[in-house]
Amino acid sequence: ASLVALSQAMPKTELHLHIEGTFEPEQMFAIAQRNQVALKYDTVDALKDAYQFTNLQDFLDLYYQGMSVLLHEADFYDLTMAYLNKVHSENVVHVEIFFDPQGHTERGIPFDVQIKGIRRALEDAKKQWGMTYQLIMSFLRHLSEDSAFQTLKEATPFLDWIDGVGLDSSEVGHPPEKFANVFKACRDLGLKVTAHAGEEGPPDYVWQALDLIHVDRIDHGNRALEDEKLIAEIKHRELTLTVCPLSNLKLCVVDDMNDHPIRKMLALGLMATVNSDDPAYFGGYMNDNYQALIEQSKINRNELYQLAKNGITGSWMDEATKRIHL
Ligand code: ADE
Ligand code: ZN
Repeated sequence: ASLVALSQAMPKTELHLHIEGTFEPEQMFAIAQRNQVALKYDTVDALKDAYQFTNLQDFLDLYYQGMSVLLHEADFYDLTMAYLNKVHSENVVHVEIFFDPQGHTERGIPFDVQIKGIRRALEDAKKQWGMTYQLIMSFLRHLSEDSAFQTLKEATPFLDWIDGVGLDSSEVGHPPEKFANVFKACRDLGLKVTAHAGEEGPPDYVWQALDLIHVDRIDHGNRALEDEKLIAEIKHRELTLTVCPLSNLKLCVVDDMNDHPIRKMLALGLMATVNSDDPAYFGGYMNDNYQALIEQSKINRNELYQLAKNGITGSWMDEATKRIHL
């Protein structure tokens, strides 16, 4: 079979996925209409035409606009279920999903409304297909650490439903050190910890994610490749990198898919994985990301195998489930 066919058929995990980033324009318009809220764009096509980004912030501006039509528990359920249906059809067997509570509480949507809808869809997917999951609450780094602490407080009744915490949104100007205290509180609660680092931010931000946030994983990590000592440290700590090829291309983190750094990461012995980040905005789900790596970055069979395996070993599923998949 061709490598592309193999990549489609193989069981996959997704470890870097923002549920609000799976909001397809068609569904966004349907939910906007149902909720009687206006979108800034008149048609699905006009909205899609706006998906041209030169950097992370360009994208984030549209991402926060898009999620603002989510009002009710059913909206969060429908959004999550649509994503799970899609990736189930792509042979994704385990997902680790971020949600951005502050993107909703800031607009008056209570924490419980969000998490109840998302969780119910995840549980339904588990019952229907045996798909396993982890739920990761992500703090918005352009907001204050106080706001993150407030979010953690609102999450307290639901800590049994939350497996880990992350850090996302505008990276440059918002280094991990800004959030050292709240991540310490999260670790003390037994939560796993990850952070977006080195997507646009410098290697020093990745060092801070390691030494001040004590991450269990690194989201993106592209710019870590600029620092040899940092590469050695990431290897020493056996940290997985959740790499997002099509995202990197759309946000101009890489210039050309033909030389995406993921092959270099593997060659260096780093635990890189393939993920879709915000598939509705970046032009592809899991299989599209693998296909781009195969057809454009020219990854070979061994690299494909290693990436899929890293997706299992680097996940936060329990060890017994990992052994089933390995
Ligand atoms: N929020 C959603 N996607 C993101 C990304 N790729 N980087 C930072 N924040 C995000
Ligand atoms: Zn991301």
